Amino acid sequence: MTPTSQRAPSKAIDLRGRDFISDLDFSVEEVEAVLEVAAALKKEYRSGKPHSRQFMLRDKTLALLFFFTSTRTRGSFEAGMAQLGGHGAFIDSDTTQIAHGDTAKEIGQIFGRYFNGIAIRQCDWGFGNRYINEVAQHSPVPVLNMQCDVYHPFQILADLMTIREYKGKDLRGKKIAVSWAYAASYQKPISVPQSLIIQLTRFGMDVVLAHPPEYKLMPQILETAERNAATYGGSFRITHDMDEAFLDADVVYPKSWGALLTTSDPQESAEIGKRYQHWICDERRMALAKPDAIYMHCLPADRGLEVTDAVIDGPQSVVYEEAENRLHVQKAVMTMTLGSYVHKPSAKRAKAKAARKRR
Ligand code: CP
Repeated sequence: MTPTSQRAPSKAIDLRGRDFISDLDFSVEEVEAVLEVAAALKKEYRSGKPHSRQFMLRDKTLALLFFFTSTRTRGSFEAGMAQLGGHGAFIDSDTTQIAHGDTAKEIGQIFGRYFNGIAIRQCDWGFGNRYINEVAQHSPVPVLNMQCDVYHPFQILADLMTIREYKGKDLRGKKIAVSWAYAASYQKPISVPQSLIIQLTRFGMDVVLAHPPEYKLMPQILETAERNAATYGGSFRITHDMDEAFLDADVVYPKSWGALLTTSDPQESAEIGKRYQHWICDERRMALAKPDAIYMHCLPADRGLEVTDAVIDGPQSVVYEEAENRLHVQKAVMTMTLGSYVHKPSAKRAKAKAARKRR
């Protein structure tokens, strides 16, 4: 096991031309590099300074193909491309010829000739991830996953950035409760909890997944989380008790998802959910976590069902910082995959490494 604090990039990290479809497409070192670039971009953005030349995506274009609604993902990808000097082209799948026969291969081949990258949101259960991978197989340019039925990798990069801002860079021993919560709006994808448990177990966190028995996640994802915990020195376990998951947590991330592995009928899934309306994040539950615990949610949230207003608008909530960080991590990945930027270790880090070698 390598301590997290020593896994910061010690060599050049080159992501040019790479896809980002699963959270694990980037190694821990590569994620560290992305977070370093994101932090630098955030600092520049917050200070109002123009981005330095090396980060620019001038003359670069990114197709933003959406099969599903979005507020944050669309807004942050479009704004991010513009801020880096490029252009993100929003494409609603309903306005394309996909329904009339354009295949995944054709999207990869054709958009790959117009654009420098193809970003896709396709969340249909049992289809989305396959579709994105098929586009990638035929695309000459990087393919970025803006959320599918299995993964939401950019959300979790932003979550990781946010957790580290509040809890420090070394997350070993920090407990996160990734919990199901009740919602009535729609049967939400399982991609956020799945990506959370496979990414955060690579950073040494103690990850507790809580859900009613019907709200299982994919077995291969659970196996990956267990394997990562063993490899990187954290822990992973499942409970069916939301209170127990919250106990002494440093981070709580309660959100709803559909009973997709229990029933393919959204109506039946909604009926099952009604049995668990008491799975809400309220002030009583927040008091079970550590006093300085942070409340996270990828949004949109069903207020009054998943979470009370007092919690989501309260002092422990970091949801707006979390949403903002989508912009910074996406800009980092776009500049590293579509642009010419290669991340080199900082002079300070190289000096520390050289000193270690001399000893
Ligand atoms: N969190 C997130 O992906 O938000 P949108 O669905 O609004 O893009």
